[in-house]
Amino acid sequence: MNMITKIDELRKWRNAVSGTVGFVPTMGGLHDGHLSLVKASNDTCDNTVVSIYVNPAQFSPNEDLSNYPRDLQTDIEKLDKYSVDALFFPDDRQMYPNGFSTSVSESQLSSKLEGKSRPTHFAGVTTIVSKLFNLVNPTHAFFGKKDAQQLRVIQKMVTDLNFDINIIPYDIVRETNGLAMSSRNKYLSSEERRRAGILNEALTKARELLGQGERSTEKVKRFISDKILSEPLSKIDYVSIADHMTLDEASDLVQSDVLVSVAIFFAKVRLIDNFEFMIRD
Ligand code: PAF
Repeated sequence: MNMITKIDELRKWRNAVSGTVGFVPTMGGLHDGHLSLVKASNDTCDNTVVSIYVNPAQFSPNEDLSNYPRDLQTDIEKLDKYSVDALFFPDDRQMYPNGFSTSVSESQLSSKLEGKSRPTHFAGVTTIVSKLFNLVNPTHAFFGKKDAQQLRVIQKMVTDLNFDINIIPYDIVRETNGLAMSSRNKYLSSEERRRAGILNEALTKARELLGQGERSTEKVKRFISDKILSEPLSKIDYVSIADHMTLDEASDLVQSDVLVSVAIFFAKVRLIDNFEFMIRD
């Protein structure tokens, strides 16, 4: 694994490799969800690049930038079990040098769902991801479906700005109780982690309701909220059933593909989860 911290070293490495290049951008705190993306890149591409960079621009002032899990050594040990050709872990001065004043923002999808609670978040994501795409110049880039809106915003950015990159979405990886893997799960005690399984339980049952023919978005959303709130540590941020591409809230569930997504505060941690469902009446 080439350990690269400087932009010019990364460019030199990139210019020397041939074949397909798979890219897995991360903020570290690696878990099996990230590692499934690395494996997918290994299975698909000739070369794999992973980046670890906790991007300040995607955190709001009230979020957890300073406590975000950082443990480069453990991350490297996990990556060592895969075929990672280059690990890029720049510092803030590399990514945002003094005087940095340009940003990339997507203006249709970014203000919905997560964007309502985190209005500057996606501009931070699209800015850093476009910088990383320019530096790594991958043929393929791998993103988890847990961050469903991030995935769609990046797909839109890639289309709108003509990046020649295949964006490969990958399934959510879950803990044994169904909790979607996330670096932020580290903030939960083991008891809280166990109880946070309620989120996936609510979504699994909601999927069953839709599968049995329930077509009222209000009923399904209420079912999800009530189930989650049966766990006293939970507070709902939003429960949404939206068109899976535009992310506009769906009113009638007739012949459409929907994204059912939820954000909650559980103990002190904000958790998100989702599933996609095809309505075929
Ligand atoms: O999903 C993440 O970990 C981050 O949003 C990303 C894509 C690495 C950009 O900082």
